[in-house]
Amino acid sequence: MTHHHAESPLGFSTAAVHAGQDFDPTTGAVVPPVHFSSTYAQDGIGGLRGGYEYGRAANPTRSSLQTQLAAAEGGGHAFSFASGLAAEDALIRGVMRPGQRIVMGNDAYGGSYRLIDRIHGNWGIANTPLDLSDHDAVAAALDADDATVLWVETPSNPLMAITDIAALAEIAHSRSALLVVDNTFATPYLQRPLSLGADAVVHSTTKYIGGHSDVVGGAVVLGSDAAADDLAEQVGFQQFAVGAVSGPLDAYLTTRGLKTLGVRMDRHCSNAQAIAEHLVDHPAVDRVLYPGLSDHPGHELAKAQMRGFGGMVSVQLRGGNPRRGRSPRAPGCSSWPSRWAASSR
Ligand SMILES: Cc1ncc(COP(=O)(O)O)c(C=O)c1O
Repeated sequence: MTHHHAESPLGFSTAAVHAGQDFDPTTGAVVPPVHFSSTYAQDGIGGLRGGYEYGRAANPTRSSLQTQLAAAEGGGHAFSFASGLAAEDALIRGVMRPGQRIVMGNDAYGGSYRLIDRIHGNWGIANTPLDLSDHDAVAAALDADDATVLWVETPSNPLMAITDIAALAEIAHSRSALLVVDNTFATPYLQRPLSLGADAVVHSTTKYIGGHSDVVGGAVVLGSDAAADDLAEQVGFQQFAVGAVSGPLDAYLTTRGLKTLGVRMDRHCSNAQAIAEHLVDHPAVDRVLYPGLSDHPGHELAKAQMRGFGGMVSVQLRGGNPRRGRSPRAPGCSSWPSRWAASSR
């Protein structure tokens, strides 16, 4: 794989293998034990050993994963949750209040839109879905007094649209809005949104970070400046007060997956490139959506802000239902998110 990149996270895999994974001081075990205990003995009332008291508040296996996730994203704080959507929910409820608005891509993952529209919408958080490649439209939507969060997913699931993180960070910050990036498809190995100006990164760790289809999870990762510390207070409080935390075994499996993320992503990138190039000439395929193809509209941008093009490829098949049309990104088309919103996934 070609590493054309603005920023290359030197030592990514070293950090992924070692951050938060100190050997066990009692036995010397090089892999920290999985801690299933819900409750912790104290040296007298309030005399906590290492800050642990009760598993919803903190668990050593979850703490290891959180340290490892923060290091992988080059951030200062990470919070691990029972699913990607639980992570998104904690972030949104931590940093937003009823009466505020979230501006987001009209091709975000359908489950994220369902959460934001049908759950947060009922609690007074409005949303404006739009085409994130139209920066004027994004700026205009953020000019609304109630707009406080800009939500970006790049590459997007499943249309593989690439969004300019640094440009949108500038637009969001000039209007005092927070920029959130869903980095699930890219992974921190290929893209570091915090270094491009994002205020928060969310993940479905169920995908590449877990990496073995045996664990569902999610994460919020924040930066390391004073503003990030404030956000961390809010997100940490949601995690503690609501409790949609990763269980110990989930946290352990996610940690084990993250250790090998780098080598797996290199292979995913080369496999996806080969498959995408092969499908371009396939008679049943109308269009291949992969940012590694030079005719993809986000190709140059992906080259600049990612270290590789990722492992996800989508195709539009020839034929199909003529009433629906074949263009998945008809301008202003909001039928995609709402149609997916109805799905049960
Ligand atoms: C881009 C993206 N974000 C968020 C999620 C939600 O994560 P989870 O399914 O772990 O709740 C998904 C899951 O499919 C996803 O693909």
